[in-house]
Amino acid sequence: MFESKVKIAKSATLWLILLLFSSALHASESLDVLHWWTSLSERRAADFLRHKLVEENIEWRDAAIPGGAGSGAMKVLKSRVLSGKPPAVAQLIGPAVSEWAELGLILELDNAAGRWQSQMFPTIWQLVTHRQHAVAVPLGIHRINTLFYNKKIFDRLGLKPPRSFVEFKRVALQLQAAGITPLAQSSEAWQVATLFETLVLAESDVKFYRDLFVARNPQAYLDPRFAQALTRLRQLRTYTNKSSIDTPWTDISRQFASGQAAMLVMGDWIKGELMAQGQSVDVDFGCVAVPNTDNAHLYSVDTMVMFAGDYSKQQGQERFAQVVLSPAAQVGYSKLKGAVPVRRDVDVASLDSCGRNSWRAFGRGAAFQAPSLVHRMAADETFKEAIVAQIQTFYLDDKISVAETQQRLAAMVRALNRKED
Ligand code: BGC
Repeated sequence: MFESKVKIAKSATLWLILLLFSSALHASESLDVLHWWTSLSERRAADFLRHKLVEENIEWRDAAIPGGAGSGAMKVLKSRVLSGKPPAVAQLIGPAVSEWAELGLILELDNAAGRWQSQMFPTIWQLVTHRQHAVAVPLGIHRINTLFYNKKIFDRLGLKPPRSFVEFKRVALQLQAAGITPLAQSSEAWQVATLFETLVLAESDVKFYRDLFVARNPQAYLDPRFAQALTRLRQLRTYTNKSSIDTPWTDISRQFASGQAAMLVMGDWIKGELMAQGQSVDVDFGCVAVPNTDNAHLYSVDTMVMFAGDYSKQQGQERFAQVVLSPAAQVGYSKLKGAVPVRRDVDVASLDSCGRNSWRAFGRGAAFQAPSLVHRMAADETFKEAIVAQIQTFYLDDKISVAETQQRLAAMVRALNRKED
């Protein structure tokens, strides 16, 4: 009798220990996540990740800051960090990740990063490491040089998606003759500059693009290829509805979806947004590379960093990173977001044709990859903002000449480079 009581007590203690052990392993953790995903599709993609994390006992406490391309979110993030109240997790992308890691602000994720190097595309691995430590977790890759076309309008008018700018002009004139705005385009600074950077690539190549925006060579801004990209930007403006001043990108996606405009150049997060509005790839709309950019992938990669504080949340933050990088999360998230997985070892057969093409193009390696300036892959915030503002000024004011803009930019780049020395 006594022995059996001891046995029961022993096994109860064992259960208790096991229970405590497993709950310590998977203690529920609540993490603040600061990001700029507030559109319908962005929200859905974030919610998808949120649910995946719930399965792992992690609560994603949302701190979303509206503003396309993250202009608002970056300001809030900086002020939270400066006031000593950083979120546990934040969307921070491109070279900023290394800059912030250098300041010792960011948690190293080496415990979570096990086989990441072999699982990710090399460029992605480079983006998320600093001094040989993993410091960010990547979510998905966007292709900026994507031309979307309204398939129903194109089929009705017997048009083919343009592969060159000569074809583009022909298609645009036919659309105008049919009373349809050829190109959906806002005058908002980042949206104009997003179109412009694809035109730079179209008029040159990855090497020249990098010379401008990564190497920051002032001479390159005086090059005829740069002049040609500016001229092209001005030409394309004539095919837009000029009244779309500062229209948010989500409204631009609606103009396109409703058939008011038949083409749209933007990162493929637009695809996610169109799908969230009930449109389907290859039925309602199609996508091709922007003319003359078939051989390049102008990319932006969304990444999240974890902030190091008192380390009390570290296990939760590491689990967060692991969940996000799992194949199921990568594929599921990408489908909703319009992105493609950052992993080279996942099966992408279930992605749509745009996604499969983007994933394959990115996989061709660094010689085909151009880091987006506007979407923070190529340079720091100050440099990016300065260029973006000049491009918008040029776009809005026909009185400013191409040559004048080239001179202004070359001088500005020279001055910004001097500041860095
Ligand atoms: C981000 C995307 C986002 C888009 C519009 C880009 O900079 O990489 O994830 O959907 O901005 O907000």
